[in-house]
Amino acid sequence: MADLEGLKVAKDYHQEIPFANQNGFYVKGANSLDWGMKRHLSNIFNPKSGKTVMFAFDHGYFMGSTAGLERLDLLLPKLAPYVDCFMGTRGAIRSSVAPELCRAVALRVTSGSSMLQDDLSHEVVAVDIEDAIRMNADCMASQTFIGADGQLSSIDNLSRIINAGMRYSIPTLGVCAVGKDMERTDRFFKLATRIIAEMGCQIVKSYDCENFEEVAAACPVPIVVAGGKKLPEREALHLAYDVIQKGAAGVDMGRNIFQSTHPVEMAMAVSKIVHEGLTDAQGWEFFQDLTHA
Ligand code: 5RP
Repeated sequence: MADLEGLKVAKDYHQEIPFANQNGFYVKGANSLDWGMKRHLSNIFNPKSGKTVMFAFDHGYFMGSTAGLERLDLLLPKLAPYVDCFMGTRGAIRSSVAPELCRAVALRVTSGSSMLQDDLSHEVVAVDIEDAIRMNADCMASQTFIGADGQLSSIDNLSRIINAGMRYSIPTLGVCAVGKDMERTDRFFKLATRIIAEMGCQIVKSYDCENFEEVAAACPVPIVVAGGKKLPEREALHLAYDVIQKGAAGVDMGRNIFQSTHPVEMAMAVSKIVHEGLTDAQGWEFFQDLTHA
């Protein structure tokens, strides 16, 4: 391990220069992957815009029944036409979404904690690779706790998921976890997203932060940004617009869609911003026109 004394601060991110190793395939960092991986990534990232709107509804894996997600069977078919990818557990997806209505699947494969605990950073790999293959998952999502008590075991989980994914050409989505007591600084996200990408993940899920454009530039694979806690719709649309401008490859939004007063219209507005280049003001106008809000 490198001696950390006198470590220089990283600063040359060259955000204005596009990612270089891109010849031939549009998903960042995926140029040298095989056909099967690229096929799954093409299911997640729209080939025209190069971006994705993932809908996260995996909250039940540690929060149980969550406001807005009480009836997945009613919600998911309504949202399906307006998002690119469903991020959920195998239990939620198998039980509540008809295969013909399902979008690309980001399958949550780690588990082991519940909101009744203080320390949520210890998880296990709960889904066999064979079941991810049976579900035709387009990627496997693993929670990764950098700087927390469970760091070592979560990196061990992540490695095992990536290794299995490499065997069967299924990408891994490394989810950068933020705990109650964990920093949310750009210093933290630059460290965590880069560790997750260098472990071999093909996609990283992270959060907006100061200097997000530097976090995105220094991450050699696409970053999709979590929505986080419920915001007023106007602010959530601003978040989507802002991170896309700063280099995110999409959003992975949960509560800001399913806890909206109008989840379908919110998904439509987010999609317009992510895929069609609407500004946040235009997205808000679009949302208001649809909902008369
Ligand atoms: C937790 C997750 C969740 O699926 C996701 O972040 C929750 O989405 P949101 O914060 O937008 O409600 O990955 O780590």
